[in-house]
Amino acid sequence: MSELKQVIVERRSVKQISGRKIDRSLVEEIVELAAFAPFHSKVEPWQIYVIQDAKQKEKLVRAVTFSRNDGTTFEQVEEMLERKFLTAPVILIVTSALFQDSKKDFESVAATSAFIQNLQLAAWESGIGTIWRTPKFLFQQAFCEALQIGEEEMVMGILPLTFLPDDKPDVKTRRKLSEYLHEL
Ligand SMILES: Cc1cc2nc3c(=O)[nH]c(=O)nc-3n(C[C@H](O)[C@H](O)[C@H](O)COP(=O)(O)O)c2cc1C
Repeated sequence: MSELKQVIVERRSVKQISGRKIDRSLVEEIVELAAFAPFHSKVEPWQIYVIQDAKQKEKLVRAVTFSRNDGTTFEQVEEMLERKFLTAPVILIVTSALFQDSKKDFESVAATSAFIQNLQLAAWESGIGTIWRTPKFLFQQAFCEALQIGEEEMVMGILPLTFLPDDKPDVKTRRKLSEYLHEL
């Protein structure tokens, strides 16, 4: 199997997070590779927000706390986010540009989805695992306001990055080709 095929087939979402530091240069290399995703009409619609140091993680916890508006305290939210996100040495929030035009918005979301998959593949190839997560708080206006993400951006996902564990998740099988390949 070619290296590309192998990465595509073997990549898995990685939930098991280790705190081992990831060099910023590697993160930037992965993000730059991901940006070779296709896009329409000269607009590269993605923006990436990096959460790496303690201050940035605190900002994330504050934004989630603010978005809940149900009395959950900062400390409780911190505990809730600990295992899935805060343990990770790097967390990325990916957004996509919105244009108030359904065709352009669709193209933007599609291009940024391609960007995210490129990112997952480039990360895997470098020994870094991630998982595209879409928890409810991403879609709360208060969350975006707290992080100063404007209304002209749609949050697409939050992706913790981690070194791959020694026991990588098994290759996940997919539906049989005959279930989704049709003669028109
Ligand atoms: C748009 C999108 C949103 C996702 N959101 C979540 C999520 O919120 N929580 C989660 O555990 N996995 C999430 N996933 C990851 C999927 O669970 C995972 O990709 C799927 O189970 C296939 O497994 P694989 O990535 O290991 O091949 C999301 C994937 C996509 C494409």
